[in-house]
Amino acid sequence: MIKAAIFDLDGVIIDTAHYHYIAWKRLASEFGITLTHENNEMLKGVSRMRSLEIILSLGNLELPEQQKEQLAEKKNKWFVEYIESIRPEEIFPGVIELIRNLKKQNIKVGLASSSKNAPRVIELLGIAKDFDTLVDGTMITHSKPDPEIFLLAAHKLGIAPNECVVFEDAEAGVEAALAAGMKCVGVGFVEQLGNANKVVARTGDFKTSDLERL
Ligand code: BG6
Ligand code: MG
Repeated sequence: MIKAAIFDLDGVIIDTAHYHYIAWKRLASEFGITLTHENNEMLKGVSRMRSLEIILSLGNLELPEQQKEQLAEKKNKWFVEYIESIRPEEIFPGVIELIRNLKKQNIKVGLASSSKNAPRVIELLGIAKDFDTLVDGTMITHSKPDPEIFLLAAHKLGIAPNECVVFEDAEAGVEAALAAGMKCVGVGFVEQLGNANKVVARTGDFKTSDLERL
């Protein structure tokens, strides 16, 4: 019996995953590293610093901690610039309806994003009030694939992990949800997210009637 739905943000509610991608691609190119859509999948869901380390490892580069901090900050500045123009109209089709339908069935709704920018994105989209709780990258020690973020969200919602379903577009996020003992709906391609209990092409394709079959 599902009593809570926990949504990832980037790539599940809005296509901010694309802005992370172009900001990292821009930074990678400064080191002569070509970030492709394929290796970008490894960056989804993981922390800012972990993403940078993955990119540097693609170019067999190791840099001192201080320089990595500066580079992560530089990428973040670009990302923050890119997202300032996002509008509520860019929320993926059917997402708001899905959240409302879940609530009509007395299912609590949470947001769990590894991003430290999640509060700003939610503010720009005007959807803070749609969530019963919000957990972001500033509140956790270990980012996805560690289950910490989802366990914290479930705890804040007062719902047991095995009564939660997570919506995720990242392989690391699917792993995290399953490690938390939750059900998971993958948003994207079955080739990447095949471990999820169900995979939909777009978040809005999921119907509350699908909950029974997870
Ligand atoms: C996740 C994204 O939501 O947040 C990752 O999928 C990103 O790509 C991570 O690296 C951290 O985001 P931020 O905004 O704190 O750099
Ligand atoms: Mg995501």
